[in-house]
Amino acid sequence: MKIIMLGAPGAGKGTQAEKLAEKYSIPHISTGDIFRANIKNGTELGKKAKTYMNVGALVPDDLVVDLVVDRFKDPDCANGYVLDGFPRTIPQAEALDAALMEIGETVDFAINVEVPDEKIINRMSGRRTCVGCGATYHIKYNPTKVEGICDNCGEKLILRDDDMPETVKNRLSVYHAQTQPLIDFYNKKDILAVVDGTKDMDDVFNAIVNILGE
Ligand code: AP5
Repeated sequence: MKIIMLGAPGAGKGTQAEKLAEKYSIPHISTGDIFRANIKNGTELGKKAKTYMNVGALVPDDLVVDLVVDRFKDPDCANGYVLDGFPRTIPQAEALDAALMEIGETVDFAINVEVPDEKIINRMSGRRTCVGCGATYHIKYNPTKVEGICDNCGEKLILRDDDMPETVKNRLSVYHAQTQPLIDFYNKKDILAVVDGTKDMDDVFNAIVNILGE
């Protein structure tokens, strides 16, 4: 099963993608996580990506597409994947279609997790991310057992640089200008489903599973 998670920054795409990957035994491919790992490791890609990410802009399409399409060649992608944060522009979506068409495949579902902008700002200020494994928490909605420490790996939690309120506002306007048009793109392909992302995390998950099937 090949799933695309759509939605504004902070809508809960990563949270749900993680759970879906586990349920359907497919990998969770997050372009944001890939870039953050590259930044942490000081790679050339990371250095380039950081200049865009820190101001809430998108990394240029040519740095993203090959990276994701190459990832599909890994054996764990044989039964599909859940894409989180990709595609994010119409050219990225077209490049994805073209890459899949070459191997006679298509995307099965595009799930739009809908959350209004005002709720996003509040969520982002409470998000905490693990410096070790990248796990995501929320100080109110999904707290760790020990404050400031990751449940998975014991490393410390931080507020992501791009989760500062001013950067979040910029990310939201970039989302509306460049990523929201994908909703119409996938609607026209008849693979779009919409879930209410303001509900409790488990309710959102159950709504998605209802769409995808057990
Ligand atoms: P990326 O990491 O993809 O960030 P994003 O899309 O902005 O999404 P987020 O990770 O911020 O949010 P999310 O929707 O996953 O929400 P989460 O589950 O964490 O990208 C970062 C940057 O990388 C981009 O700005 C860009 O520069 C670059 N980039 C990445 N991909 C790119 C691409 N394809 N092309 C170009 N550039 C690219 O949830 C948010 C918080 O809310 C958490 O604290 C969570 O615990 C909480 N929460 C989740 N669900 C609920 C709920 N139902 N109720 C209450 N709280 C909830």
